[in-house]
Amino acid sequence: MKTIMITGGAGFIGSNFVRHMIKRYPQYRIINFDLLTYAGNLENVADVAERENYSFVHGDIADVVLVDNVMKQGIDAVVNFAAESHVDRSIEDPGVFVRTNVLGTQVLLEAARKYKVKKYLQVSTDEVYGSLGTAGLFSETTPLAPNSPYSASKTGADLLVRAYHETYGMHVNITRCSNNYGPYHFPEKLIPLVITNALTNQEIPVYGDGLQVRDWLHVQDHCKAIELVLHNGIAGEVYNVGGNNERTNLEIVRTILKEVGKSESLIRHVADRSGHDRRYAIDATKITEKLGWKPEYTFERGIKETIDWYVGNRTWWERIRSGAYRDYYKKMYLNR
Ligand code: NAD
Ligand code: TYD
Repeated sequence: MKTIMITGGAGFIGSNFVRHMIKRYPQYRIINFDLLTYAGNLENVADVAERENYSFVHGDIADVVLVDNVMKQGIDAVVNFAAESHVDRSIEDPGVFVRTNVLGTQVLLEAARKYKVKKYLQVSTDEVYGSLGTAGLFSETTPLAPNSPYSASKTGADLLVRAYHETYGMHVNITRCSNNYGPYHFPEKLIPLVITNALTNQEIPVYGDGLQVRDWLHVQDHCKAIELVLHNGIAGEVYNVGGNNERTNLEIVRTILKEVGKSESLIRHVADRSGHDRRYAIDATKITEKLGWKPEYTFERGIKETIDWYVGNRTWWERIRSGAYRDYYKKMYLNR
């Protein structure tokens, strides 16, 4: 039986991946290791929590002693989702991003080295490549040029992962994906924020002109890509994962408003984000050709299903919005 340590498994993508793996591989033991920061929510994995092959460890990836204790039990693979993940928060408070994303990754790598973990997979982001103009795509060889404290900290982590392969011969992989969307997405990010604001008739804050472009990837397609890299990735290799769905932010907002039957008068243009990357777009040829991955969701189907999920799971996001999220929400939006 294989034992897989999934860090950050109570967050958006991590919880979808935990569920995906538990269902597909009942013979694997899954350890979900998560600090439960504001973004971690055990309700995201409540439906699999009682499974025999699942366990949860509440802890910090930067905690050397605790990470050591878990890894010494015998771990076959680590998949690291744990991170501070929101660009706007990184602009307000970069320190915690360096601590979790850079130091935390190094603590995981060091323990994985010590206990000879067979595979280490780092879930990274296309944001390490910086920003594109109107043409071109990010490939795995695009120079790293991060522009936000978030993407800089993810880049630092990627370089450590690379170094552990080059120096110690560890079997590592890095996946760099575009913007994910789907169920359990914390409502501070664009798509769930727009859906939940629209459903509650609140203004939709659009940064600057709203013509920034993101490439949207359904979280389920992302989970399948990670599953493939985990099993078949070549040691030391980076794999880009993209949805082939480029949209401007305004297009996203208008699509959601139309789908939920709300007026575009809810749109409010607010001050732009500092250092705002204009466009991200991924060339996913490598993972398609080498590992046979391709996205299955069209954006039209994915966004419809996602909106339906938020309509059907109102209690989930209302609990988030009525809790600690409220203070942050006021600070970031109401006083803008
Ligand atoms: P998220 O913010 O929803 O979840 C992060 C999870 O990590 C939370 O459960 C949180 O409690 C946990 N965590 C934070 N600090 C921790 C620590 N020190 N120790 C242990 N756990 C900790 O993030 P997400 O959107 O699910 O993203 C997951 C990963 O994917 C991140 O590494 C992110 O950089 C990357 N990524 C995300 C996207 C996206 O569109 N969401 C795109 C590209 C890459
Ligand atoms: P976000 O979901 O924060 O992801 P990222 O910054 O990692 O791409 O933002 C997606 C895009 O939407 C980005 O260009 C910023 C923009 N945005 C808004 O215009 N308004 C908002 O309220 C938010 C959260 C984001």
